[in-house]
Amino acid sequence: MWAGKCPHCGSWNTMVEQVVEGSPGSASSGGSSRVEAVSIADVAREEGERLSTGIGEFDRVLGGGAFRGSVVLIGGQPGIGKSTLMIQAAMNMAAAGMKVLYATGEESPEQVADRARRVGDPPEGLMLLPTADLSAVENRIRADNYQVVVVDSIQTLHTDMLSSTAGSVSQVRQCASSLVNLSKPLGLTVFVIGHVTKEGSLAGPKVLEHLVDTVVSFEGDSFHQFRLLRAVKNRFGSTSELGVFEMKQEGLREVVDASGYFLQRDGGLGAGSAVAAIMEGTRPFLVEIQALTSTTHYGFPQRRATGFDSGRLAMLLAVLERRCGIEMGNQDVYVNVAGGFTISDPGADLAVCLAVASSRLERPLKKNTALSGEVGLGGEIRPVAGMDRRLAESGNLGFSNLACARDKNTGADFRYSTLSAAISGLLVEKGEQWLS
Ligand code: TYD
Ligand code: MG
Repeated sequence: MWAGKCPHCGSWNTMVEQVVEGSPGSASSGGSSRVEAVSIADVAREEGERLSTGIGEFDRVLGGGAFRGSVVLIGGQPGIGKSTLMIQAAMNMAAAGMKVLYATGEESPEQVADRARRVGDPPEGLMLLPTADLSAVENRIRADNYQVVVVDSIQTLHTDMLSSTAGSVSQVRQCASSLVNLSKPLGLTVFVIGHVTKEGSLAGPKVLEHLVDTVVSFEGDSFHQFRLLRAVKNRFGSTSELGVFEMKQEGLREVVDASGYFLQRDGGLGAGSAVAAIMEGTRPFLVEIQALTSTTHYGFPQRRATGFDSGRLAMLLAVLERRCGIEMGNQDVYVNVAGGFTISDPGADLAVCLAVASSRLERPLKKNTALSGEVGLGGEIRPVAGMDRRLAESGNLGFSNLACARDKNTGADFRYSTLSAAISGLLVEKGEQWLS
């Protein structure tokens, strides 16, 4: 059956048919099964062993390594570097003496081996299983007592139990739950790679996320070198840790000094740049906003924004002129969100205003400062949601000062009620940016 429009969310062509196969027919209402209840106080603490992936940033996101017997899902867009991350981790784990199996239905053994050689020296103990057949993977695991298995990817895996094609909702779900069921009794740690769609949702059912213990998401855009790894769900740790990597010719390199990575190599940002701590969905992000102002030569001033709403830019320019006394009338203004991001969060207003003011006045911002705040027509700075996450993310990435609205307890160092106060407080004199 085909249904064009989803009756719940109203979007088109997103409905997926899911055939219910071989229903177990267990309509046992009020059956005879009995399970004893236990006192919570008597339940033993879950103390498991952690396996190190040999990649510090990855381990940190997992909460100190992967829990033995757990299933970790690595989601990300095609081409982002999931296979690279996992071959590196698999090689490290095998080199550390673990029995590791890399099952791939996605690529030929040659392709996987090429990648492995590109990033290092493949250890003897790392075994490759080129198959898309779930039962072949299961049989291999049982026969050879593997400790760690990588499945690349869940969308290519299929099981004969179902007649639907690989990558369909029912296949993805069935294969994932079979792997989960296998992992617990064997104490087997499973890493499952899953592709996400352009919109960022895991291709395959949402239920995949519920089935596994940990979901990490690998992000960034393939035009730029940086990659961010974060836990979206973690049964064994927090979800606020962030791993930063750089995609190099010889694989992923950990970026331990993340702040240095996002800032320009020479230290501070130049005039016309400001870093916004924004939220896209429930996720905090740090993005650099660049502005360039220059005197208009022929008639009408040009105002262009890339990655930011141009109507909103026009409003902010009017606020800068009327409320902060910064003349904009004879200025062409260009605003660009670096890294190809498109911002929808009004919390980026403050950074846009500061970037424009910084360019216009030729005064850079204070070092290591990120900004979060909505700017109102009165020139007031308004608080935005998720301040604690923005603050944590700024700190993670080395921006020790977060400038925001004068709100209750945000823990931020720089708090302002008005845009003009923020401008005088945050812009330094030319050449002064080396002082913190
Ligand atoms: P890949 O891990 O295959 O992505 P995914 O499994 O998420 O689809 O890597 C994708 C890109 O990374 C590919 O375009 C090539 C690039 N790459 C490097 O730049 N350096 C490397 O060492 C490797 C292995 C890949
Ligand atoms: Mg891949």
